Amino acid sequence: MAKSGRHFLQIPGPTNVPDRVLRALSRPTIDHRGPEFAVLAKEVLSGVKEIFQTSSPVVIYPGSGTGAWEASLVNTLSPGDRVLMFETGHFATLWRDVATRMGLQVDFVAGDWRHGVDPAVVYAKLADDRGQAIKAVCVVHNETSTGVVSRIADIRKQIDAARHPALLLVDTISSLGSIEYRHEAWGVDVTVGCSQKGLMLPPGISFNAISEKALAASKSAKLPRAYWEWEPMLRDNKAGFFPYTPSTNILYGLREALIMLREEGLENVFARHERFGRATRAAAKAWGLDIVAVNPAEYSGVLTAVMMPDGRDADTFRQLVLERFDMSLGTGLGKLKGKIFRIGHLGDFNDLMLAGTLGGVEMGLKLADVPHKAGGVLAALESLASESLESVS
Ligand SMILES: Cc1ncc(COP(=O)(O)O)c(C=O)c1O
Repeated sequence: MAKSGRHFLQIPGPTNVPDRVLRALSRPTIDHRGPEFAVLAKEVLSGVKEIFQTSSPVVIYPGSGTGAWEASLVNTLSPGDRVLMFETGHFATLWRDVATRMGLQVDFVAGDWRHGVDPAVVYAKLADDRGQAIKAVCVVHNETSTGVVSRIADIRKQIDAARHPALLLVDTISSLGSIEYRHEAWGVDVTVGCSQKGLMLPPGISFNAISEKALAASKSAKLPRAYWEWEPMLRDNKAGFFPYTPSTNILYGLREALIMLREEGLENVFARHERFGRATRAAAKAWGLDIVAVNPAEYSGVLTAVMMPDGRDADTFRQLVLERFDMSLGTGLGKLKGKIFRIGHLGDFNDLMLAGTLGGVEMGLKLADVPHKAGGVLAALESLASESLESVS
């Protein structure tokens, strides 16, 4: 069937790529060993530090987030090292799998996929580890499969309270540039990030922000590494180059995305996403549908995972919404498959795009005969209209 108007890409990443970024991406590819490239690389390598809120180096890989997960582990750890991980959802489980395959011994704290990491459990686990065998604590900041945020600053405090030297590795793949995050102030050792969500870029590049402590650990870490090795990256990056072919055009896009985020101001970007979260939760509440996150301190401004009433298949509903309204909603992942759908409200996104998104969901619920109450869109509009838009300049 012929389609008119724009597709609504409301999965929690990859997100809508703004026209300004699309135009930047479409520039001719240049020699990645020439002087023009060095200017671009230096600009983005320095600019991206603002997004991680750090003054220490950030490396940029041509690769997806999974590669950057692997990089964070192989650069800092040795075969057989113990790491502490938490089952907050599908992505935390996949990161655990990467660690296991790399030959690490993972202490995986079981979870119900509805809560973030409990800082008190971090304390208890580390205080118990008298021989300091645990070398790293790995946490997913925004669990994209559930819409639950773990409180990184509180986790850091508990690591300090336990006086434990473990490194803190954090996945910010779906929170970077959309939920408040401070690599340096929160004492994170490696932050893993990605292009295709809050940074409003296509998939294709990923990041490691590296603390001094992590850099020191990399000198003695013994896991095998080649492509992901920090040392040649950091060496060549100083002059604006890469040890292998970088994603030249995505770096053009990154330069533009960084300008856009700077124009809006990070604090305003975070506040905008929080508003979207509040409005979407107001809609879900009015529909009478539960969301996956249970603790208000862990609600996500990036996505809302909505639970289907018993016996209703979320993917059948999603398919109807796609066919009828040309809108992609996020599927349930892992053990939530078929049980939930996820509404992405991040990136290059505004109030009216959210109104359209929720309109599509509400019409879809009616057409699919999913038991719910009407009025979700209205509740969201009231939430959006009742909040002032004071911005920090
Ligand atoms: C929180 C989180 N971590 C890791 C990943 C994996 O990233 P990629 O699919 O780019 O390898 C994703 C992907 O959506 C994610 O949301």
